[in-house]
Amino acid sequence: MIPINRRLQKVSEYIIGDSLADIGSDHAFLPMYSLEQGQIKSAIAGEVIPGPYQSAVNSVQRHGYHNQIDIRLGDGLTILNPEDDHVDTVTICGMGGPLIAKILTQGFEHIPYRPRLILQSNIQSEPIRRFLQANGYQIVTETLIKERAHIYEIIVADPGTMTLSARDLKFGPFLHPNPSELFVEKWTREIEALHDIKEQLDPVRHQARYDEITRQENEIKEVLNQ
Ligand SMILES: C[S@@+](CC[C@H](N)C(=O)[O-])C[C@H]1O[C@@H](n2cnc3c(N)ncnc32)[C@H](O)[C@@H]1O
Repeated sequence: MIPINRRLQKVSEYIIGDSLADIGSDHAFLPMYSLEQGQIKSAIAGEVIPGPYQSAVNSVQRHGYHNQIDIRLGDGLTILNPEDDHVDTVTICGMGGPLIAKILTQGFEHIPYRPRLILQSNIQSEPIRRFLQANGYQIVTETLIKERAHIYEIIVADPGTMTLSARDLKFGPFLHPNPSELFVEKWTREIEALHDIKEQLDPVRHQARYDEITRQENEIKEVLNQ
């Protein structure tokens, strides 16, 4: 049995097709788990740092998946070549939203065949949604998952078009219209964090920053009280 956490297990539910590319794969748990479940037939696992790359090589070898998982050392989507056009799903998980958006921006030309994207951010998903909207992708679903007190966002996108409002970009078009318990918990925590920052500021000396945080607090309260 591949040891996998609930977060990656949830991500795996959205994988489509026979072939997965997992970018930032660390121990390659997601590709190995998806193979074990019979969800996919082959995978590419990409890692930019030699240490985690070696961990992926070792764990894939240990679990006997070396014939099905091709592990590549390199930056983001640039590990994918034109002959990888059989890839049906690309996953980028366990990073901040700005880093995921950067990986998509810098390597988008490497996935001209437009696979499904499953993007699981730890914080700040807005840049991801902005990228998807500007680059011919449509969010088909979003969900939240809580693990060890942290609440993560999962965004699933397929080729298509969408028009997102400012509220959609920040809170998620599938998440804010019917706020779930986790959604309320996540954004209530965010209000508390903003409140703590405000307490450190002098409303007169740091007026611009103070007012901006108040604006953000009110924006969140509006969504929570809709
Ligand atoms: C926190 S780990 C998450 C591992 C796994 N995806 C998960 O969700 O549990 C992030 C991994 O992404 C890798 N990473 C960060 N930037 C990357 C990039 N530009 N290209 C490939 N891998 C990257 C890191 O080296 C690290 O192993």
